[in-house]
Amino acid sequence: MPKYVPEPFRIKVIEPIQLIPRQERIKVVQEAKFNVFNIRSENIYIDLMTDSGTSAMSNAQWAAMMLGDEAYAGARSYFRLKEVMDDVFGFKYFVPTHQGRAAENILSKIMIKPGQFIPSNMHFDTTEGNIRAQGGIPVNLVIAEAYIPSKSVDFKGNMNIDKLRNFITEKGVENIPLGLLTITNNAGGGQPVSLENIKQVSDTYKEFGIPFFLDACRFAENAYFIKLREPGYENMSILEISRKIFALSDGATMSAKKDGIVNIGGFLAMNDESLFKKVKNELIIREGFPTYGGLAGRDLDAMAVGFREVLEESYLEYRIGQTNYLGESLREIGIPIIEPPGAHAIYIDAKSLLPHIPQNEFPAQSLTIALYIEGGIRGVEIGTSAFGYVDTETGKEVMPELDLVRLAIPRRVYTQSHIDYIVEVFKKVKENPQALSGYRMTYQAPLMRHFTAEFEPV
Ligand code: F0G
Repeated sequence: MPKYVPEPFRIKVIEPIQLIPRQERIKVVQEAKFNVFNIRSENIYIDLMTDSGTSAMSNAQWAAMMLGDEAYAGARSYFRLKEVMDDVFGFKYFVPTHQGRAAENILSKIMIKPGQFIPSNMHFDTTEGNIRAQGGIPVNLVIAEAYIPSKSVDFKGNMNIDKLRNFITEKGVENIPLGLLTITNNAGGGQPVSLENIKQVSDTYKEFGIPFFLDACRFAENAYFIKLREPGYENMSILEISRKIFALSDGATMSAKKDGIVNIGGFLAMNDESLFKKVKNELIIREGFPTYGGLAGRDLDAMAVGFREVLEESYLEYRIGQTNYLGESLREIGIPIIEPPGAHAIYIDAKSLLPHIPQNEFPAQSLTIALYIEGGIRGVEIGTSAFGYVDTETGKEVMPELDLVRLAIPRRVYTQSHIDYIVEVFKKVKENPQALSGYRMTYQAPLMRHFTAEFEPV
């Protein structure tokens, strides 16, 4: 039996959930055109679609919200957030944004010209979308092991430094306006990046004069893995490790809906003053005045408290422990997962679980639907539907290497019995995987198609 780390909190407010009957679940999923994004939340029993904005806030965060200062400019809430920003992230400048992709949008608009390349370990879909929307080309340069689901590596989110160096030399610095690194690497299994690797990435970008931005959504989870796994950091606090990480970069985009433990919020931070001036202009057009950036004052206060709570080791031990418990329990019953278990989610290798479904018939989509029908569980496909696309020149489907179902765990929301229930549902699916069929996409949008795609069983 894997170990479950007890919750370092007790429950004061509850939200009822219910499992609707199986016949209704079948009807619901048909009406949703076999896309779980179209299912009403009231028809979901355990919602593992995302860990983003779905977390439970603490009593301290709710209390802080009552102090929210809703002044248009110069609100106290902004200055309380700024104090935490300066202490934890340490960038010279920042603006709040309503979520991560708003920060990505502003950064992309200012920095990227059509035809330019943006390297990262792996881009998340919104980052890819924002880069492509400016005519840029996102490039993934993660280490090769990241593409071998069963291979357990401590820092599987690391960038391949040789590849990065060769890529920059080959394409030319003038064609690379910006370099990124995603911590943890969500698209590759929620895997961490080591401090050593972050330093090498930073050195490489610096050597070529390329501005280095972190996609920092899950920075505290990444820092905790550094403390656990990287020699030399075992006695440092998560705050100290976080400061070391950010000191190596020129800026960061952040979705506080993850490691800010809030339901909405984010920021764009940087050290370059001239960039900050441009950012403020873009922000005012799109998001709001620079001291609130598309958020209410109370949201800034909740974020300020969240950025402190996420650094607590008792919280992170429970957080990583819960995800690990799910991963180990699934492994025990023979479900192929990305190894080792990540921080915020477990990723099921659908190609390996369902070898009878060809990749162009969306095996991970098929498993996602089966989990809903079998147990009212909502996971999300992050494979061929999310990252594949139709090449406009050849008209052919370009497919990603990995075809995964992600079970993302909201922070501080579900208990051990919920996790045990998920494992029971997997046991049922595992009894007869041959019963699952492939799917055909009957509608797709030109960008980020998985959100609105429609399917039918083959
Ligand atoms: N970068 C990463 C690594 C992300 O995981 C996300 C969001 C974003 C950027 C964008 O942030 O949603 O606040 O605009 N990921 C969510 C997820 C949606 O489910 O993994 P956002």
